[in-house]
Amino acid sequence: MAGPDETAQPHWQHVYSTKPADQASWFQSSPRPSLDAIARAGVPSGASLVDVGGGASRLVDLLLDRGWSDLTVLDIADAALDIARTRLGTRASTVQWIVADITDWRPARRYDVWHDRAVFHFLIEEAQRRAYRAALAAAMRPGGHVILATFAADGPERCSGLPVRRYAPEALAAELGDAYELVESWAERHTTPGGTVQPFSWCRFRRR
Ligand SMILES: C[S@@+](CC[C@H](N)C(=O)[O-])C[C@H]1O[C@@H](n2cnc3c(N)ncnc32)[C@H](O)[C@@H]1O
Repeated sequence: MAGPDETAQPHWQHVYSTKPADQASWFQSSPRPSLDAIARAGVPSGASLVDVGGGASRLVDLLLDRGWSDLTVLDIADAALDIARTRLGTRASTVQWIVADITDWRPARRYDVWHDRAVFHFLIEEAQRRAYRAALAAAMRPGGHVILATFAADGPERCSGLPVRRYAPEALAAELGDAYELVESWAERHTTPGGTVQPFSWCRFRRR
């Protein structure tokens, strides 16, 4: 694949336009693993964070509750961001919202924290992952934290009807390369709203 996957945006726009956000397999009423990882990173609430493929996640709400003031949520589907904005009401105006394909994003600034739960695993072509790494490299300040969660090596082979690549933490570290130090990794078993258990690999890196 030479450029961005042209089928991705209509797919995700359709998903978020037709299915209640709390019925999606990836829904979490509280994004505990993300909040815990961000807390362990030890960054102050004045730091900047971009939630890549944040969709309708409640992570942004909970970070606002904790006093974070420089939050960006990026997603390929405007319909997903609309759900989050509507939920947040007036608080939405304090967040930067970016509609973009991460494999085609040129960040206009740098961030202290990059958070991606369940987005990188959709990039099944090497060219897509290379483009993701380019966006990451452009967005991260040296010393910044990268929190990445994908389906684990024994996780599901598909998500939202799309094929995924599954990773052990070492494989994720190899994908990011030497510019990122793997600080910690852990396994999580996410239970979907339908009661299915999905094994995830989580990694926290530090940009060297
Ligand atoms: C499985 S959902 C996870 C959503 C959110 N991170 C969470 O934990 O609730 C994947 C998200 O990635 C978004 N997405 C998929 N491909 C993308 C891409 N190439 N660029 C940006 N966002 C993308 C989708 O619209 C969707 O919101």
